[in-house]
Amino acid sequence: MEQKTIFSGIQPSGIITLGNYLGAMKQFVELQDEFNCFFCIVDQHAITVPQEPEKLRQNIRTLAAMYLAVGLDPNKVTLFIQSEVPAHIQLGWMMMCTSYVGELERMTQYKDKARDRGETIPGGLLVYPPLMAADILLYGTHMVPVGEDQKQHLELTRDLAERFNKRYGEVFVIPEVRIPKQGARVMSLVDPTKKMSKSDPNPGSFIAMLDDLKTVEKKIKRAQTDSDGIIRYDRENKPGVSNLMGILSACTGQTYEEIEQLYEGKGYGQFKGDVAKAVIETLAPIQERYNQLINSDELDQILDEGARKAQEAAAVMMEKVNKAIGFSRK
Ligand code: AQP
Repeated sequence: MEQKTIFSGIQPSGIITLGNYLGAMKQFVELQDEFNCFFCIVDQHAITVPQEPEKLRQNIRTLAAMYLAVGLDPNKVTLFIQSEVPAHIQLGWMMMCTSYVGELERMTQYKDKARDRGETIPGGLLVYPPLMAADILLYGTHMVPVGEDQKQHLELTRDLAERFNKRYGEVFVIPEVRIPKQGARVMSLVDPTKKMSKSDPNPGSFIAMLDDLKTVEKKIKRAQTDSDGIIRYDRENKPGVSNLMGILSACTGQTYEEIEQLYEGKGYGQFKGDVAKAVIETLAPIQERYNQLINSDELDQILDEGARKAQEAAAVMMEKVNKAIGFSRK
């Protein structure tokens, strides 16, 4: 049977957070043995809001090293940088032309990021989802492992692929979304009604994968909870405690019921201490591998080889797309 294809990307828009890891990267590692995997550093998405060039360069390298440090094996997956494969932008334009402004304006992430920008909303924020659709469709992707926040963009990707196929013939595979059971939506530690985000200006709100381990402990101990002292999973009424339970569950594999039983009659102090310990045990070996990789020549070789393999796969799809749309002379 033909091996199915997976694609997913992460923006180098800051230091990767525990949310990015539990929602996205952890799944990538679980899937690499079974699927033909393409994992991408989506740097062109990062410039939908202004980036400082030197910082962007560093963030790209950091993210590449992090992909490997969490356990991706470059012999099994294709790891590459989006801007090194120009076909993303070529197909992105076609996807923009396939989309409607109305549906793009309805995207929650666009509304969140465009809020309060008045006349200065970058155009890229609006057309981010069609570029994301192109990233995915370019590889004939069957499944896209992402956190819950990306579900709406995935639905749009499916709509655009179907619309294109209807107009020009069966070119694209219609991809499925894959959301993890635990860790699909890690929330901010200072406001647990908001998603944990790497571009949040308050560093206390997120755990960065590269935070030193003492800082991790401090951030978790300061995380917002409530005053009733009961460890119970209830996203609506106890968002802070539920968020920490979600993190603990994703790190240790314990279910919410097991956690509730374990901490019955115990206070938040011990609970938070155990959450911190579980996160530290998750991060410590990843940080160790990251430190070995970040300045290595091996990292550049892996990215060069990844770009070559991705270009090769993308060229096959672009030939089909160009032909279908009428861009080929023959
Ligand atoms: N808080 C989260 N919980 C679970 N999954 C998350 N993801 C992001 N935040 C969480 C997942 O991480 C992957 C990469 O996301 P991205 O970098 O492409 O963009 P994003 O979703 O907008 O992530 P951030 O951290 O919030 O970035 P900024 O601050 O730049 O917007 C995706 O699979 C996402 O679901």
